[in-house]
Amino acid sequence: MRGESMQTHVKEETWHFETIAIHKGQDPDPATGAVIVPIYQTSTYVQESLGKHKGFEYSRTSNPTRKALEECLAGLEKGDFGLAFSSGMAAAATTMNLFSQGDHLIVSDDVYGGTFRLFQRVLTRYGLSFSFVDARDIKNAEKALQKNTKGIWIETPTNPLLKIADLKSFADFARANNLISICDNTFASPYFQNPLEFGFDLVLHSTTKYLGGHSDVVGGGVVTRRQDLYETLKFHQNAVGGIPGPFDAWLVLRGIKTLALRMERHEKNALQIARMLEGHPVVQRVNYPGLESHPQHALAKKQMRGFGGMISFELKGGIHSARTLLEKTRLFSLAESLGGVESLIEHPATMTHASLPPEVRAQLGISDGLIRISVGIEHVEDLLQDLQKALAFVG
Ligand SMILES: Cc1ncc(COP(=O)(O)O)c(C=O)c1O
Repeated sequence: MRGESMQTHVKEETWHFETIAIHKGQDPDPATGAVIVPIYQTSTYVQESLGKHKGFEYSRTSNPTRKALEECLAGLEKGDFGLAFSSGMAAAATTMNLFSQGDHLIVSDDVYGGTFRLFQRVLTRYGLSFSFVDARDIKNAEKALQKNTKGIWIETPTNPLLKIADLKSFADFARANNLISICDNTFASPYFQNPLEFGFDLVLHSTTKYLGGHSDVVGGGVVTRRQDLYETLKFHQNAVGGIPGPFDAWLVLRGIKTLALRMERHEKNALQIARMLEGHPVVQRVNYPGLESHPQHALAKKQMRGFGGMISFELKGGIHSARTLLEKTRLFSLAESLGGVESLIEHPATMTHASLPPEVRAQLGISDGLIRISVGIEHVEDLLQDLQKALAFVG
C-alpha cells in the first residue's frame, strides 16, 4: 500500500459491485499479511531522512485505513477518486469550498434539512447564494439560472418526500452552462444508482447511512472522475481538516463489504411494506419510487437499479395520528437517521426537518401527518405485523 498524496488511477474494469466492495483498495497488508485492512491508529509516520518516507507524513493529510476507504468509495461510485470525511455534513461543507464569495447555486428544494441549514444559515454569511427549486422539472432549474450561477446540488430520491430528479437532464444542463454538478446519493446508495454515469461531476454520501449500514459510525464521502476537482477537494480536505479517524474509516469499510446483500433485502422489505401501507385505510398517500402509483416511477426505473429502503407516508388525522403511530411501534424504533440494519421510524416535521422554517415545510408538503420509515433487514413478516398493530391504534 503506497501513500502518495494523490491517488493512483486504479480501475479494475471487470470487477462487479460486490467484488469492488470487498476488495477495492483493500489488498492484504504489506507489513503483516493481514487480510483485513488494519486500523492504522497513528497521527504521524517516521521519516528515514528529510522528505524520505513511505508516502504518509501526517494523518490529517493521509492515513492508510482512510486511503483504503477512499479507493473503495471511488470504485463503488464508478469514479476515479474518492475522499472520506468525518460526517456527511463535513463532506458537504468541504465540497462547498469549491465555490467562492458571490457564487450562486441551484439546489433541489427538499434536500436534507442539515444541508439546507448549512447553505442558508452558514454559507450565505460567506457571500454564497442559493435558489431552491422543485427538481422534478428541469425547467425550474433553467428558470433559476443567473449570470453568477456556478453549481447545482440535487438529491434524488429526496428526503423525506422521495421525489425524483432526472439525473441526465441535470448533468446535461450543468455541462451546457459550465456548472459544477453535485448529487447527494445517500438515499439510493451506490448499489442502486451512480450519478457519475449520467455525467455528474461529484457524488456525495453520508456514509453514516447505507454504506456504514449498522448505525455505529458517522462519516461522509465524495467521489469524482475529474482530477481537477479531486485535487482542489483534497487540498481543502487537508486544509480544513474534516477527516474521519482510522477506526471510523475502518467501520465504514467493514459495513461496505455487505452493502449489496443489505440493499437487496432493504428493498425487498420496503416494497412489501409500501404495498401494505398503500392499501391501509388510515394512510392517505405513500411515497415510494418502487410503487407504480409514484408519479415518477418510470423515471426511477430508468435511472435506478432498485428503489431502496426509504418510504414516507401521510396519515389521515395529522399530528394526532402521527404521535399515536410513533408511540405504538416496537420494532420500528423512533429515531433519526436511516440506512442501518434495524428499522427506524421518525416524524420529519419535528425531527429531521425541524431545521426548515415552518412555511418552507408547508410549501414542500412536509406536513404534521407525514411519517418517514427506514426499512431494515429484519424478517418482513415481523415488520409488517409491527406496523399493522400500531396502525390499528390510529384513526
Ligand atoms: C441525504 C443526506 N445527506 C447528508 C446527510 C448528513 O450526513 P451526516 O449526518 O453524516 O453528517 C444526511 C443525514 O441525515 C442525509 O440524510
